[in-house]
Amino acid sequence: MGAVKLKTKMFYNIFMKKLVEVKHLSMKYPITDGLFGNIKGYIYALNNIDLEIYENEILGLAGESGSGKSTLGNSILKLITPSSGEVLFNGENILSKSKKDLKLFRKKAQLIFQNPFMSLNPRMKIFDILKEPFIIHGYKDNKEINEKIKKIISLIGMQEEVLFRYPHEFSGGQRQRIAIARALILSPEFVVADEPVSALDVSIQAQIVNLLLQLKTHFNLTMLFISHDLNIIKYISDRIAVMYLGEIVEIAKTDELFSNHKHPYTQALLDAVPVINESKNEKKVILSSELPSNENLPTGCKFHSRCPYVKEKCKTCEPDFYDINIGHKVRCFLYEEKN
Ligand SMILES: Nc1ncnc2c1ncn2[C@@H]1O[C@H](COP(=O)(O)OP(=O)(O)O)[C@@H](O)[C@H]1O
Ligand SMILES: [Mg+2]
Repeated sequence: MGAVKLKTKMFYNIFMKKLVEVKHLSMKYPITDGLFGNIKGYIYALNNIDLEIYENEILGLAGESGSGKSTLGNSILKLITPSSGEVLFNGENILSKSKKDLKLFRKKAQLIFQNPFMSLNPRMKIFDILKEPFIIHGYKDNKEINEKIKKIISLIGMQEEVLFRYPHEFSGGQRQRIAIARALILSPEFVVADEPVSALDVSIQAQIVNLLLQLKTHFNLTMLFISHDLNIIKYISDRIAVMYLGEIVEIAKTDELFSNHKHPYTQALLDAVPVINESKNEKKVILSSELPSNENLPTGCKFHSRCPYVKEKCKTCEPDFYDINIGHKVRCFLYEEKN
């Protein structure tokens, strides 16, 4: 990330409010047989996830493609309905909310998509795209709406004349600015940004990440930032959770995760990115094979088939989380004795 660093350090303490609490969350997608739609199996995308997101932090969610990051983000926003578990937002379970309460929640919690080419309606002018959330939520005061639209346009670094143009007239980076404006226009408390810069040119990525940081401060946002790119995750996040096959395998503050990572999978992810690999002369972990299928999940530790440190126990028993440090937990038997 070449641009001026906007990130300020987050100080954690025991009095911090948990804005989001995920409890025992699981999601299995049915696999249906084409002709009759019979269920012939399941894809286990999330397996008993527990996670907390503190007010005002940016929690990074890392992991290979297919590890369940988007499923987790979409479940937290109730854009999909998970198979079991709870998601508490401000202490209330959003999975059991009525339609009316869910609408209120939607105003407070928003999604920024990966693809700005798909998230903006091509037939609508930017003004109407930005006005739509107000209509959905029953705002009537046109003067107030117009002022808020002008304000957000200036916050994303664009001119008012863009309001009367269509999405196709803009570049990828500009469209993502507009999509971000739409997500933030009703001043949400919480945003899931799902690979928000992955579809953009590398030269544009830093600008959009810095824009998100600016807006995070302006709106006092809490954010779940999903990315498979560890350079970006490191730059933007206060804490990082690493996912593997539908489970969180390690979670720590950003500095701690990069300087003192413990899970062999985290090590493998970092070893694959030479720029940020700070590990000393330790044995490198190279991910040889493909991610195992999440139709037939491995028994024991889900990472055992690719782990260079695998022990007999790992093949049959599932490791729990072990504490490494304050706020640093790892799901691996290598750290069992130290607890
Ligand atoms: N709508 C869906 N129907 C069936 N399987 C899905 C669906 N969405 C995701 N999956 C599967 O769930 C797993 C996790 O996917 P996803 O959450 O998109 O992971 P990630 O965002 O980390 O790439 C993958 O195996 C994927 O193929
Ligand atoms: Mg995804």
